[in-house]
Order: sequence, then C-alpha cells, then structure tokens
Amino acid sequence: MAQAPKEQTTSTVPYLVQALHGQVGTHVPFWLMRQAGRYLPEYRELRKKAGSFMNLCFTPEHAVTVTLQPLERYDMDAAILFSDILVVPYALGQTLDFVEGEGPRLGALSTPEDLDHLNFDDFEKKLDPVYQTVTGVKERLPAHKALIGFAGAPWTVACYMVQGRGDGEFTAARAFAANQPDVFESLIDKITEATALYLLRQIACGADAVQLFDSWAGLLPEPMFEKWVIGPTARLVSRIRGQYPDIPIIGFPRGAGAMYPRYAAATGVNGLGLDTQVSLSWALRECSRDVCLQGNLDPVHLLAGGQAMETEVLRILEQAKGRPFIFNLGHGVIKETPPEHVAQLAAILRAFKV
Ligand code: CP3
Repeated sequence: MAQAPKEQTTSTVPYLVQALHGQVGTHVPFWLMRQAGRYLPEYRELRKKAGSFMNLCFTPEHAVTVTLQPLERYDMDAAILFSDILVVPYALGQTLDFVEGEGPRLGALSTPEDLDHLNFDDFEKKLDPVYQTVTGVKERLPAHKALIGFAGAPWTVACYMVQGRGDGEFTAARAFAANQPDVFESLIDKITEATALYLLRQIACGADAVQLFDSWAGLLPEPMFEKWVIGPTARLVSRIRGQYPDIPIIGFPRGAGAMYPRYAAATGVNGLGLDTQVSLSWALRECSRDVCLQGNLDPVHLLAGGQAMETEVLRILEQAKGRPFIFNLGHGVIKETPPEHVAQLAAILRAFKV
C-alpha cells in the first residue's frame, strides 16, 4: 500500500520573528508604524464610540478590535498592540490627558519632590486592561502572524514627563537632564524599571516581539545619547533577555543618524528601526549582519501612492535583498493617507521575490 504523503509542515514561527532571528525567507515581512489609526474609517468610528483615546486604549474589547483592524484589510505580518507609550507615566501616577486635535498633556515634573510622587502602587492594576488586550489579540491571531508589544524608551518617555507635552523640542526636558543629571538619572531609572515590568508582562501574555520607540533620540549630542539612549536601552535589553532569551527586541532610535550602528552594537537589539532620513544602503554597510534592519519608506510616499511610491518601495527592497529585513515606514502612517495606498503597498511587497 502506498504511503500517505507526509503532511507539509509549515513553521509556526511568525515570518517577522524569523527575520529578527537573522533568517531570509521567501518574502519580506512587513508592518507599518501607526498601522491602526485615524487613516482607517473603522478606527475613527470606534474611536468616536469609545469617546476618548484613553478609553479606547483601556477598554480591552475595543483595543483588541482596533489592533486587528489593519490585518482584516491587509496581509501584514504583524499586529502591533494598540496602546500608547504614555500609559507608563500614567500608571506611575502622573496625570495624562489627550486633548482633541492637540495631543498629550501630562502634569509636568520639575522638582525632585515631583519625582517622589511617582510610584508603583497601582502600576500593574492600571495596566491590566493593556495586558488583557495582549491576551485577547494573541487568541485571535493566526500563528504565522506576530504580535508586537511595545513601550517608549526611557529617554523619550522622560521627555514627555518633564515637558508635559510633545512640542518636538523638549527644551525643558533637555535642560533638566543637563542641569540636574542626578535627579534626571533617578527619573530614567524609575522609567526603566517600569518599562521592564511592562514589557515582561506583555511578553508573558503572548507578545512575540517588542519594539522600543525612542522617537526623540535624535535630540541628543553624542555623550548624552550614550548616557540617556544607549545606557537605559542596553539595560532593558539585558533585563528582558534574562527572562526571555529568545524574544526579539526592535530598537527605534529615531534621528540617531551616525549613531545608528553604535546603538545596534551597544544595546544588542535584534532589530533596528531606521527613520526616513537615514540612508538604507549606508546602514546596510555599517551595521552588523546580525541585526535585522527595519524601515524606512517615507510616510509621505505612502500618502502620495502611485508610481512614485512604487519606485521607492522597489529601491528599498532591492537594496535590502539578501539581508534579513522587515519593511516598514520611517515613521508613523500620516492620518490623511488613503487606505487604498496601503493596499497598493501590500501588493507590491507580496509580488516581490526575495
Ligand atoms: O498602530 C500603532 O502603531 C500602535 C499604537 C500606537 C499609538 N501610539 C497609538 C496612538 C503606538 C505604537 C504609539 C506610539 C507613540 N505614542 C509614540 C512613538 C512613536 C512616534 O509617533 O514617534 C509617541 C511619541 C506617542 C505619544 C503620542 N500619542 C502623541 C504625541 C500623540 C498625539 C499625536 C497624534 O498623532 O495625534 C498620541 C496619540 C495617539 N497614539 C493616537 C494613536 C492612534 C491618535 C489618537 C487619536 O485617535 O486621536
């Protein structure tokens, strides 16, 4: 009797995780920063129903739906947890509000006494809805798709905590770090501890990889970049690895410029998120082959779509060919982006043979 053919075994390790472990597969995995958000009509609808952005983040049923919305439309390789980097200061007891059309407002910290008010008393309780979201998404996600957990890196979170808002300059925060380095260090240490707890719980609940958003890393001159960006990030990476040696970690030090290769080597991240400004061919030359690069289409090209976008996407794919690579934007999806352009992007990526 003829033997039944062996069932084809498909790996259950998500493609995105394979790339982060240095493998070059048959297609380039992709996801987009801010893939769940205001460019999607279904997001805007649920956001209205939830009443506020915070309510959306802290209602697991809604947050699970929003996390999965982009994957209902497009064949992305990963979902990213729907939450925000500022839930960590909120869980440490800082006041947080998202003002319609303006952005986040926090009760700014300026004295050592202000720092003393930050505490871990309700930390895990306040973040419990986020952990429930991770569990809920993981239950619904197919095995070959990854769930990316995330947090802000300590420097970027500290910028918002001291400045109280996102003004792109963060002069008060930078002056605080320069004038009172010891006090600032205790703030960074507190955030680092909180972020470690937060990410470890996300991983325990099912996150397959985590990304650290250091959106304002580029504001720092080299010695401060070393101290406030590389130092705390390296400590976070080793803390996570101590408990989960195989969990891939992506670092996104936006604006790091010439410091990108040093950041990758000194922090030990598996993945390196490139911003729009940095040259991909340069980063491919300068960074170790051990790190999986991620990026870096200009979000404006996704907004524009058409032939211009296609040319740019193909340039990026050709350059990264043969290296472990994750396709992404250099920053988040712009809210005016037509959803059809994301469909066009997905089609180009899937048609490209590695
Ligand atoms: O899809 C995803 O990427 C996951 C969800 C996510 C959000 N924020 C949702 C969000 C992620 C990963 C973030 C990260 C985040 N949040 C960063 C780092 C990345 C970056 O953009 O540099 C920062 C700096 C923040 C802080 C933050 N949150 C700001 C400055 C703002 C206001 C600006 C804006 O775009 O409105 C937010 C609000 C926010 N976070 C929105 C979303 C979808 C818009 C809120 C709304 O619906 O009104």
